[in-house]
Parts: sequence; C-alpha cells; structure tokens
Amino acid sequence: PAPGWSIDADVVVVGSGVAGLTAALRCEAAGLTTVVVTKARLDDGSTRWAQGGIAAALGEGDTPEQHLDDTLVAGAGLCDEEAVRILVTEGPDAVRRLIATGARFDASTDGDLELTREGGHHRRRIAHAGGDATGAEISRALVEAVRARGLRTVENALVLDLLTDAEGRTAGVTLHVMGEGQHDGVGAVHAPAVVLATGGMGQVFSATTNPAVSTGDGVALALRAGAEVSDLEFVQFHPTVLFLGADAEGQQPLVSEAVRGEGAHLVDADGVRFMLGQHELAELAPRDIVAKGIMRRMRENDTEHMYLDARHFGAEMWEHRFPTILAACRAHGIDPVTEPVPVAPAAHYASGGVRTDSHGRTTVPGLYACGEVACTGVHGANRLASNSLLEGLVYAERIAADIVRTGLHARVPQPLPTQQRPAHPLLPPEARFAVQRIMTRGAGVLRSEASLAEAADRLHRLHADARDALDENGKTAEPGVDTWEATNLLCVARVLVAAARQREETRGCHWREDRPERDDTAWRRHIVVRLNPDRS
Ligand code: SIN
Repeated sequence: PAPGWSIDADVVVVGSGVAGLTAALRCEAAGLTTVVVTKARLDDGSTRWAQGGIAAALGEGDTPEQHLDDTLVAGAGLCDEEAVRILVTEGPDAVRRLIATGARFDASTDGDLELTREGGHHRRRIAHAGGDATGAEISRALVEAVRARGLRTVENALVLDLLTDAEGRTAGVTLHVMGEGQHDGVGAVHAPAVVLATGGMGQVFSATTNPAVSTGDGVALALRAGAEVSDLEFVQFHPTVLFLGADAEGQQPLVSEAVRGEGAHLVDADGVRFMLGQHELAELAPRDIVAKGIMRRMRENDTEHMYLDARHFGAEMWEHRFPTILAACRAHGIDPVTEPVPVAPAAHYASGGVRTDSHGRTTVPGLYACGEVACTGVHGANRLASNSLLEGLVYAERIAADIVRTGLHARVPQPLPTQQRPAHPLLPPEARFAVQRIMTRGAGVLRSEASLAEAADRLHRLHADARDALDENGKTAEPGVDTWEATNLLCVARVLVAAARQREETRGCHWREDRPERDDTAWRRHIVVRLNPDRS
C-alpha cells in the first residue's frame, strides 16, 4: 500500500541495538537530522541479551595483532583481513567511547577493566558488565543517551522496503507502524541515507538464543532491493544453550562462553571431559569446534545434550559473576551450584548478511548496513566470540563518518512511487513455524545435500502457494507484522539453503555431513547472492 504519512530526515537508522544506536548518536552529533525506527521497543533486540561481553585488546600485554590472529583462525580462512584489522585496531578506542557515553563495565577498585576469556581467544580480552549482563548495560546506556540527546525515534515500526529514486539510489524506507499515534499504519521516512541495523535471523530455526524479533527483516529488505548478500550459509550455533527438551521452540536461555572462560568443564553423562585432546584449547576452542565436539559426543552416546559442570565455582562466584545465568537456570529447576547444567547447541548468530565494504556501504548507493545484519567480512566462516558487539560499534562509527565525509545527507531524496513495485506474496503468520521446522530439520547444525534439497523443496512449496494465491485471485495474507515476519523468514531461509547447498565442503560453522573435509582449493571464496528486485 501507498504510505499514509512521511517524515523527512538526513539519515534513517533501522534498528536500535548497539550498531543502530551508535550510528544514530554519531550522525546526530555530526549535525545530521537522524530518525531511528525500530520494530518493537528501543531496547528490544539481540543486544540486550548479550552476556559474555565485548572483545578488544584492552589488557596489559594484549595487542590488536593478537586479536587479529585469533579472529582469523576462528574465521577458518574466509575473513577479510583488512576488515578485521580495522575492527581490532579501532576497537579499543570505540569501547572507550562507549564507556564515555555511559556504559559501566566491571572493573577492579583501582579502575582497571576486568577481562575474561571465551572460545578462540588466547588472552583475557572480553570486557563485561553486571557480571554476565553486558548487552543489557550497553543497551541501557545507549538508549539513555539517545533519549538525552532528543533523537527522534519511532517504535513499533516494522521496516518493509527500501525506497529508491529513478537512478536506483536510496531515498528512504517504508514502514508498518502500530500504536504510535500520528504515525500509525503504513508510512515512510524519506532520507538519502539508510542504515540497516536490524540484527539477525535466528528465528529462522526452531530453537535459538535470539529474541522473537530476530526475523531477518534487514537481509530480506536488502534482497528485495537488489543488494548483495554474502556468507548466509555460515550460521553459528552456540555450543552451550540451556537444554529444555528436544522440542523446545523459540528463544532459549544462553549459558555464556565466559562460564567456560572462568573454568567450567564440558562433560558427558559419565563426567568425562570430552573436549580434552580434541583441540589445544579444549573447552575454549573456537565455537564451531566446541559445537561439533558436543554434537559428536551426543551421537556417540545417543543422548540429546551434554553437561556444563561449574559446581567448583561455588555459590558466591555464581552469584557475583553470573547472576543472570544462575537465575535463568534456577527458573528452570536447575541449580548450577550443586549440579551440572544440561546444554546443547542452538542457533545463535548469522556470520553472513548484507555485503558491505569497509565503510559499511552496501551495493545499493546510500544503503548502509552494520551489526549482525551486515557482512563486513570480519567473521568469515565462524565469528570469534564477543566480536559482534565490537563490530556493531566500530562499523556504525565508520558509517556515520562516511555519510558526513561524502556529504550524502545533503542530497534531496526523490522516491519513486511505491505502486511501481511488484506486489509481494505475503505468507500467513503460521508459516513462520513451518519455516522453522523445515530449517531445523534440513539446514541445522549438521547438513547434507539430501537434507538441504528436501528443505529447499518444502520452502519452495510455501513460496509457490503464496505466489499462486496472489497470481490467481490477487489474494495475499492480511499485511501485518506477523505476516511480514513470516515472509521475511521464508525469504532468508531460501537464500540460506541455496548457499548451503552450493558450498560443498565443511568449513567453520557450515558442517556438511556428506562433505566432511575443508576444501581450500575450490572454496576459499564467498557465496554472494543478489536477487532481481523485480522478481524477488
Ligand atoms: C556468550 O556470552 O557466550 C556469547 C558471546 C558471543 O556470542 O559472542
């Protein structure tokens, strides 16, 4: 439908996690008229669920070069080294600026940051807050700063599509807004610069650490707009998610890698530490290796989960260092002080996303992306733990700098009327669960050509049913947040499966049962997808 209202801005930031709010604050500080639109409330989204922390070479004896090395090893040969170098070099100052913005990290009495370890890091370099509530503190500080600076925000605003001008340049976005008074219904923000910071797509699987809002909206928008998307096959499964039953659906409680960083052991039902001897770092090997180790042991022992044993921490350390995790476990009847915690891998992070250069520019002029929605090249085939908050910070700042430097904000946007675009076949809301089941079964932590082919076929049928209904009688599901989310999930799921079928090797977090070896001769390259905007 045509927008019923519009707002004019220099920059519209879509999303309100660490990446979105950092970009917005930096743009506003540079004098640009900046509007933040977000699908739910400002502090909903993945950032506030982040536990372990934010990685940066801040400790004595640590250097960006060592952080670079660990990131490249975890990325299994597919990181863009220059993008990583930017991340690790600009990271420490970006964290200091976040502290100056108001985020309070855990520190010793003389003010030195407390740093912990996580998988793949050879040093203590993870800054944390509130013990294991780092994301919540970052979110609190950034939301407060946005409110204090009086930035214009529109909540409950689901982004629909990119607006472009006759030359294909960005001209804003359309939105579906509910419950925000004068900005209810379908509207638009007109702006020559759009920053996508919509987060991830964990909801494409049945069990995930991601909140319900992580439905791949930004990647789906970018695909519909004809932007390039890269590395979607690399979905990271977090090794230690509280196991609540094989049929558990939706957001699951995370048990941070920092628990292993402080000395917890992964054991099987007999108490055997099965990661010993599998990697020099044992439980602190890069995330993909630990997830695989757990899955293998689960298969060997024919069980649905393993255990994380940190009884030796004692009650005081659990309460002081990991209060969030302790409360979540106890809420589910498990007491980590007296018993090992049942854990299994679950979908956690999209290492791929909308392809950008080192300034956060996508392949559509004026469209930027940062944070989990983006593929800047820093994660390669497997993101290093706690690099994601850092990436959100560093690349959001680079985007703001690029908009200012290029003067992009000064161009007056001239959006083409939305009626000139083809109608979308929208899916009914319940299709969300169908997509999740198909993806969990066919494209989960372990995949094969057969499982992926079946998933592709079933996803295609969901799409064809919606398309036929539209072609034959012009009917589509009633537009609304639920239908758009289901439609976006299907869109990203289909591209993810296509990329996973194409990558005929095992690398990083892409684990092909039928192609168990890494193949550097054929596959040291990225799978880049671009849809024809008229046919997507
Ligand atoms: C965790 O705390 O284990 C999550 C850290 C991350 O995903 O980077």
